[in-house]
Amino acid sequence: MCGIVGAVAERNITAILVEGLKRLEYRGYDSAGVAVYTNDEKLERLRRPGKVSELEQALAEEALVGRLGIAHTRWATHGAPCERNAHPHFSGDLAVVHNGIIENHEALREQLKALGYVFTSDTDTEVIAHLLNHKLKDLRDLAVALKATVKELHGAYGLAVISAQQPDRLVAARSGSPLVIGLGLGENFLASDQLALRQVTDRFMYLEEGDIAEIRRDSVQIWDVAGQAVERQTVQYSDGAEAADKGEFRHYMLKEIHEQPSVVQRTLEGRLSQNQVLVQAFGPQAAELFAKVRNVQIVACGTSYHAGMVARYWLEELAGIPCQVEVASEFRYRKVVVQPDTLFVTISQSGETADTLAALRNAKELGFLASLAICNVGISSLVRESDLTLLTQAGREIGVASTKAFTTQLVGLLLLTLSLGQVRGSLAAGVEATLVEELRRLPTRLGEALAMDSTVEKIAELFAEKNHTLFLGRGAQFPVAMEGALKLKEISYIHAEAYPAGELKHGPLALVDNDMPVVTVAPNNELLEKLKSNLQEVRARGGELIVFADEKAGMTNGEGTHVVQMPHIHDILSPILYTVPLQLLSYYVAVLKGTDVDQPRNLAKSVTVE
Ligand code: F6R
Repeated sequence: MCGIVGAVAERNITAILVEGLKRLEYRGYDSAGVAVYTNDEKLERLRRPGKVSELEQALAEEALVGRLGIAHTRWATHGAPCERNAHPHFSGDLAVVHNGIIENHEALREQLKALGYVFTSDTDTEVIAHLLNHKLKDLRDLAVALKATVKELHGAYGLAVISAQQPDRLVAARSGSPLVIGLGLGENFLASDQLALRQVTDRFMYLEEGDIAEIRRDSVQIWDVAGQAVERQTVQYSDGAEAADKGEFRHYMLKEIHEQPSVVQRTLEGRLSQNQVLVQAFGPQAAELFAKVRNVQIVACGTSYHAGMVARYWLEELAGIPCQVEVASEFRYRKVVVQPDTLFVTISQSGETADTLAALRNAKELGFLASLAICNVGISSLVRESDLTLLTQAGREIGVASTKAFTTQLVGLLLLTLSLGQVRGSLAAGVEATLVEELRRLPTRLGEALAMDSTVEKIAELFAEKNHTLFLGRGAQFPVAMEGALKLKEISYIHAEAYPAGELKHGPLALVDNDMPVVTVAPNNELLEKLKSNLQEVRARGGELIVFADEKAGMTNGEGTHVVQMPHIHDILSPILYTVPLQLLSYYVAVLKGTDVDQPRNLAKSVTVE
């Protein structure tokens, strides 16, 4: 989603801004731009639709050299992704970049037009530029004018502003969209994600909700939502600049799929004793809180929501705890009845997803027992605002389509299930010790599933000419089928739908013919025979079957049936293992179709607007 980078220094900052934008590319965007207060004492900008490389090319032809600047990658919300709508937006001699959405932009636009301001874009952001310009006329000081401006904005914003009138500073405001200040020696920076600045500093200061900041070369001043001057803690990272490197792999997505054995291992590290889960992995108060839990409400979006759906099967089957799962965009706007002693669980790779964050904030007013975030980013808003946290250790995920984040979330959710069951005494005898043992073997099993890479690559050829696909699963494999369908549609643009296999005859069977491949996952469990009957129904209508089946499931290749044998695994862990071939399948189909695997069209990595 949109990205912001800013810099104030003694040296030319254009290359730093562009490098920052490149580091944010993985978030997804459709245009890029930069504004610099040049050494000729003019505010100038360059903007391009498309990739940062196109902006870079334009800068090579028309250099902008200066010591103060802001830059942006835009993911279109108001107005098409074209140069005119790309940020920075100018009003007089000030420039603004903005992440988020201003909900009252239409009313403000009318007021500003009446005052004589001329709009050159369709964006909500241009309203901010003109409003700020207007306030600046009376208030004179950029930070003071920004404070007055944000009071009139409804919605979400991360803002960075520079002005030719006050060229020794950049000012910023955060409400609903993260911003971080990067601290240098005699130079300071701003970005929507610290990753953008790791090439210039390892010291950061995170703005909090409602903060306004004035950043100069040698000072940083922050005011909180009440207008009080505040200090924010400085965080130092010691691990050096994180390498964004594909290594031997052609795409980040493939690299991240192959990292799953090691990141699952990391997610388990320090969280298991000989035969139990260590409940304190969820925080020092976890044991006391978990003992009170009688219900669980899970809220998440997209892939993370699918992880929550798998967890419902586990929580009810293993720990005997009723569980509800809902997508955050629905939960946040619904009148919810909260059962007593319900634990509110959010799941998120980024920890910045706007709907999930808003749902957490609403939940705090609704009387939940406590909140727990299962999240991959320790410094995210979701983690900061939750009572308990379990960090997945997936490492940085760059491919827009989530892979290793999902499997590590599942591991975290199984640890949660076992912890709740352990504390409440609701697990069947021996279950925890067995599953702890199985979890320890999981990285090896995942490695075996990855070894099927070239088999799956061959199967992918069956899909290259198809326009529709059906994914089927039963029990906890139904959310796995949903995740498989989401991956395929996201990166190959093939329409894919997932159904619980038992629902086939209630409608979707009408779609099945020899142009509709049907993908299914078939672990060796008590639902296997039922699933086999459903698959017969598909074959009888000429549907081609692709089945990822347990080696002991007794399923073999036949006319119109392609069976890929999967290593045997304990049924409870099978959703984690069976996800892997579905990830590989969508990856190879997308490669065959020649799509942009790591940055699929219209999608963003971190969805920081609702
Ligand atoms: C799909 C995908 C998205 C995210 C969703 C939630 O591959 O990546 O569906 O899962 O946008 O994002 P997080 O987990 O960051 O809250």
